[in-house]
Amino acid sequence: MNVYDSARMADVLAVIGYGACESAEDADLVILNTCHIREKAAEKVYSELGRLDRMRRARRRAGRDMLIAVAGCVAQAEGTEVARRAPGVDLVVGPQTYHHLPRMLAQTREAKARGAKATVIDTEFPADDKFAHLGDVAGRRGASAFLTVQEGCDRFCSFCVVPYTRGTEFSRRLPEIEAEARHLVASGAVEITLLGQNVNAYHGIGENGEPGSLAQLMRRLDEIDGLARLRYTTSHPADMSDDLIAAHGEIASLMPFLHLPVQSGSDRVLRAMNRRHKAGDYLRIVERLRAARPDLALSSDFIVGFPGESDADFEATLALVRAVGFAQAYSFKYSPRPGTPAAERADQVPEPIKAERLARLQAELDGQQRRFNIACLGRVVPVLFDRPGRQPAQVLGRSPYMQAVHMDMPDDRAARACMGRVIDVELTEALANSLSARPVDTREAGL
Ligand code: 5AD
Ligand code: SF4
Repeated sequence: MNVYDSARMADVLAVIGYGACESAEDADLVILNTCHIREKAAEKVYSELGRLDRMRRARRRAGRDMLIAVAGCVAQAEGTEVARRAPGVDLVVGPQTYHHLPRMLAQTREAKARGAKATVIDTEFPADDKFAHLGDVAGRRGASAFLTVQEGCDRFCSFCVVPYTRGTEFSRRLPEIEAEARHLVASGAVEITLLGQNVNAYHGIGENGEPGSLAQLMRRLDEIDGLARLRYTTSHPADMSDDLIAAHGEIASLMPFLHLPVQSGSDRVLRAMNRRHKAGDYLRIVERLRAARPDLALSSDFIVGFPGESDADFEATLALVRAVGFAQAYSFKYSPRPGTPAAERADQVPEPIKAERLARLQAELDGQQRRFNIACLGRVVPVLFDRPGRQPAQVLGRSPYMQAVHMDMPDDRAARACMGRVIDVELTEALANSLSARPVDTREAGL
């Protein structure tokens, strides 16, 4: 979602004359859009601010200034603390107020003109709807675009900062989302990923004044000419409704891949996490999803070392992983976050145990990912190529199952011809984190 928000900030700033530049050294304004989900992400902000401050001093010696802003969830959670720890920061703006950036920049400039040294801070949760003030998407978003449909969360998992940083759950209106999707497609998007912290809790109001579900929203978007692919992320298992499960078998453009975080395979830990589902519920949802869409590939999030997690609890997580079989997954050591109930618990798991469990879990998940990729070799799949690869004349894209796929083309012209297109390719080789491919129809690939 930070990628989406950053692009929206660029849209807002374009109106007052800002454009993107290649490197921070050349920038009049640098915005760090930050993440507070785990301590590591949050601490990175301060080292990055130190680096930017040195860059700014070099620019000042050359007679040019630089404004530095901190946006996103670290800004929201730490507010004035950011200004205290990094006094050089000019603006601190939360995820719900970045449409105020032009006004905040004017305040900053005005203060600077007076010779005042103050950080302009806006981390309110305004009653008005940010999206209503953002206007249309302006800059180009490329072949695969993000679209925020839902924000915030009311679930309050006991480890998670999201309800505090992103705020309570909010769903955008259906017609507003459809208009944004049409706009994205008109400017070249072939794939749209619908975003929300708890996206399957979506319940935006339609033209009739009634709330619509995520499945209903996707059925509408599926009608848009030129939109070949739909995805959505991230979902909560307890919000996998019957119509959403059915949608996986019915909506042609909905890709056969789902990121469905389970966090743990132990019912005891899930209860302590306030997840409101059991391991067995998750397995049953997966079964029903696979019945609706037999080739569905699954991804998940896991936390190891949640307070009180025993060896037996951790073994239950490994058992769940083996029972499901994931195409890919993310796993993290539990990170105590300020203000969350789990951080207050006395039975924190020692770091070496967390590290050992994470290594074991990741070995299992990596093995599953490798086996999934190898099982795909020789298959012909449609890949959306949307970016250049690392090698000359190489293109990079995603399979329906979210695998990174790269393909070597004979020359740059042929590589450019693949950009922004869905092309049938044969998967030929499985590497650690990607697959290589070759075109099956050389004419179709523009050769
Ligand atoms: N510690 C570790 N991982 C966390 N996540 C959220 N909060 C924490 C935390 N305190 C993980 C969850 C979530 C993903 C986005 O980040 O697995 O699904
Ligand atoms: Fe955080 Fe997701 Fe739980 Fe909401 S559902 S509190 S975003 S982990």
